[in-house]
Amino acid sequence: MQVVAALHGMVAAKSIHMVKNFAPNVPTTVIGDRYRVEHIISNFVSNACKFSPRGGEVVVSVTSRNAGAFAEVTVTVSDQGCGISPENQEKLFRNFVQIRPSALQKGQGSGLGLALCKAIVDLHEGSKIGVRSEEGRGSSFYFTIRFPVDAPRVGGGGGGAAYAPNTATATTASLLRAAPSGYGTGR
Ligand SMILES: Nc1ncnc2c1ncn2[C@@H]1O[C@H](COP(=O)(O)OP(=O)(O)O)[C@@H](O)[C@H]1O
Ligand SMILES: [Mg+2]
Repeated sequence: MQVVAALHGMVAAKSIHMVKNFAPNVPTTVIGDRYRVEHIISNFVSNACKFSPRGGEVVVSVTSRNAGAFAEVTVTVSDQGCGISPENQEKLFRNFVQIRPSALQKGQGSGLGLALCKAIVDLHEGSKIGVRSEEGRGSSFYFTIRFPVDAPRVGGGGGGAAYAPNTATATTASLLRAAPSGYGTGR
């Protein structure tokens, strides 16, 4: 779980127990923008760790609803942190919102993380992003993106690209293992 490896310092310092949970029908390979998807997961995991109590558990679950050539993949990151009130849950995905700009998170993050996650998710047709949370009990952030499972062919031969521009083959199961370097822990 390299997304987690990038957050290793915070995970170790707070003795956070990381659990990952993949449903067996999650496809091995989907077509999508791997780096953007990793960015969302990384944001969710870093927030979950940031707001977790010492020794808390952070669970990353991946499920899929398979529909022909598509897989509707849902990634959920749950924590046992402070939770978020219903009023604040509505604001979270707007730019520069920090619910608790207090000592707790002074100098940490910009309040842009979730707004960027929403912008990325919204670029995908039929996608959604959201949160379920109860104050004092923890939060679960989730997103669902509908990925083609097979490569869409573009062009009619002539040595052109086999995949649409700006797409990359991403192995869903490897998303959590293979984050690029350079992810900070701040957002
Ligand atoms: N897992 C979480 N538990 C509690 N509060 C959270 C969680 N994730 C996000 N938040 C709240 O949502 C705000 C916005 O998150 P985000 O957009 O990622 O900004 P940042 O991490 O830069 O503060 C955070 O400042 C925090 O108040
Ligand atoms: Mg953040």
